[in-house]
Amino acid sequence: MRFELTEEQLAVKEAAREFAQKELKPGVIERDSKMIYPTDQVKMMGELGFLGMMVAPEYGGGGMDSLSYVLAMEEISKVDSSCSVIMSVNNSLVCWGIETFGTEAQKSKYLPKLATGEWIGSFCLSEPEAGSDATSQRTTAIDMGDHYLLNGTKNWITSGGTSKVHVVIAQSSVELGHKGINAFIVETDWDGVSIGAKEEKLGIRSSDTHTIMYSDVKVPKENRIGEDGFGFKFAMKVLSGGRIGIASQALGIAAGAYELSVAYSKERESFGKPISKHQAIAFKLADMATEIEAARLLVYRSAWLKDMGMDYGTASSMAKLFASEVAMKHTVEAVQIHGGYGYVKEYHVERLMRDAKITQIYEGTSEIQRIVISRDIVKNDNLYVPIMTSTMENV
Ligand code: CAA
Repeated sequence: MRFELTEEQLAVKEAAREFAQKELKPGVIERDSKMIYPTDQVKMMGELGFLGMMVAPEYGGGGMDSLSYVLAMEEISKVDSSCSVIMSVNNSLVCWGIETFGTEAQKSKYLPKLATGEWIGSFCLSEPEAGSDATSQRTTAIDMGDHYLLNGTKNWITSGGTSKVHVVIAQSSVELGHKGINAFIVETDWDGVSIGAKEEKLGIRSSDTHTIMYSDVKVPKENRIGEDGFGFKFAMKVLSGGRIGIASQALGIAAGAYELSVAYSKERESFGKPISKHQAIAFKLADMATEIEAARLLVYRSAWLKDMGMDYGTASSMAKLFASEVAMKHTVEAVQIHGGYGYVKEYHVERLMRDAKITQIYEGTSEIQRIVISRDIVKNDNLYVPIMTSTMENV
């Protein structure tokens, strides 16, 4: 078993770290506080190739593996998770979905703009009454012959105020249940697309999250992704990869809080010595380091399984479940280590604690991840041990 990264992967990690520390850190507190969308920073992410990392170079992307994407997500999330959620949705849910399941015409039309950040993409699955229960889609896309007529409302849409492309999940034949659901590429300047108010959120406050309304939007037939009725499976497959992105975001939030806590505890003195030398704090650092490393292994493993072409659905749910719980637990600890300073904005850790919470909710709550994992355990007779039973010869 080999754990080292390649030179290319290390270079990506270093480039993302430099970008996050130099370009994201300086304004991150103000953007969060005033809910300012990171326009310039997203533009830079596009120029640096962070918005279409896994897209093939022929479509304007970086052609990189999932592990490189995870490394970049981790570094950017240490500093600014508003930027990293925009990055994750664009890479994992929108670009990867179109590239993997789209037609050649869809790929050539949309990927070059999405991969470079000229356009930003949104993934529109959640509805006022269909969050975790994703098959209960009320948004309809009725087949009108040469086009579909799209009507409905989508909730909590990341990049909803700025995106130019939506991947929309909608019901085309209610009587078929989830087998009647389709996925479509919708451009936001088409007639009938309107954007609701921006949500005021606990965390990731500078990302723009909106309700979206579709009213008699004419979607050309050629903008349906995959066969008729493939939409729910499309959403599930795309979310399996998306969860690797959010798991790496959670990992980055936890690791960012840990790095700040180590630095602070070595500087801050009480009772005549740095607080890192008090066992009460030192043991917290030890627990943080250990559990963050365990999360890192799960997250990197899920990306590796995807890169190897192996089944990664349950692995990505495990990674997201564990990394998001670690992020929540250890950002709270980071605030505690910082004491009164941890409770004010200047020291960053209170923001990381607020940002951590959403990683337990979006792209499938922790409870949904447990459903996915437990169903796999039961189906496979409680033998979920893919790494130990897989060899490279099996790939
Ligand atoms: N890959 C392929 N097919 C899959 C699949 C997967 N990973 N998971 C399920 N399916 C298939 C099943 O095989 C089944 O197909 P058949 O009937 O042909 O066998 C079909 O999909 C229905 O599956 P289930 O019976 O398991 O469906 P369910 O109603 O029990 O729900 C669920 C399954 C896992 C709970 C699913 O509804 C789910 O993932 N919910 C959470 C939704 C979610 O993650 N939302 C996030 C919103 S996006 C977001 O947050 C983006 C953002 O902006 C940050």
